Amino acid sequence: MAAAHAEAVPLTVPAFRARKGSRAPLVCVTAYDAPFARLAEAAGVDAILVGDSLGPNVLGYDSEIRVSVADIVHHTAAVARAIRRPLLIADMPFMSYATPAEALRHAARMIQVGGAAAVKLEGGLAVAPITAALVEHGIPVMAHVGLTPQSIHTLGGYKVQGHDLAGAQRVVDGARAQAEAGAFGIVLEAVPVRLAERLTAVLPIPTIGIGAGPHCDGQIQVLYDLLGFRAERQPRHAKVFADVASTVEAALGGYVDEVRRATFPTEDHGFKLQRGVLDQLKFD
Ligand code: KIV
Repeated sequence: MAAAHAEAVPLTVPAFRARKGSRAPLVCVTAYDAPFARLAEAAGVDAILVGDSLGPNVLGYDSEIRVSVADIVHHTAAVARAIRRPLLIADMPFMSYATPAEALRHAARMIQVGGAAAVKLEGGLAVAPITAALVEHGIPVMAHVGLTPQSIHTLGGYKVQGHDLAGAQRVVDGARAQAEAGAFGIVLEAVPVRLAERLTAVLPIPTIGIGAGPHCDGQIQVLYDLLGFRAERQPRHAKVFADVASTVEAALGGYVDEVRRATFPTEDHGFKLQRGVLDQLKFD
């Protein structure tokens, strides 16, 4: 495994983009730390997003909106140290790209300090000029339309977007504007299956779905949704591939139990003192 990692050829932004329409869907996942990033690479993912879902999933924030640029840079750097092949994308937090100047300054930190190869930002028509500014300065951008969690207060919550004509047109216009502005890919979050299918057919860049059905060029999921960490509020679009959360809880329960019953640790888990040292030690 270590050898495979050493030889891994990084997946570049042009290589990612070239997978548009490919038979092999792009597989993307979020990760926020080195151990999980390493496992995601070993599993064969194409791209890792250090998403602002970091906030609710890892940092204990009540929403994505509280996540800062420093949070994303710190966690992106941890992931960057652990992986070689997957394309590393850092999420631009709420209000970090309100103007082209701020977007450039913050995106530069994601890349220079965090080690990301690209950034992701949320929004359609209104945000396309920001995408264009970043792309003109050599910063690859993944766009994100549909349910955009940084806009939950405007959207009225985490709701499916684009099921009526006006909403669907907004998604289409936003996605087209982002592609024209130079985005190399676009996340379609929580949009109806048939809308995502048509968008995938008409857009020249890969569509990466989350809650957008099976017809996108790729899929992305939030790591913890796949591992059973959202048991009581599992999103409909996600599937628990392994109930790691229950396994961890049982493991920690075992630890608590054994320490309380004094069955762990045993002397076999400890280290030996050299012969005679204890007799010669001065404790007073
Ligand atoms: O922050 C995130 O995890 C995301 C994905 C849901 C695409 O933006």
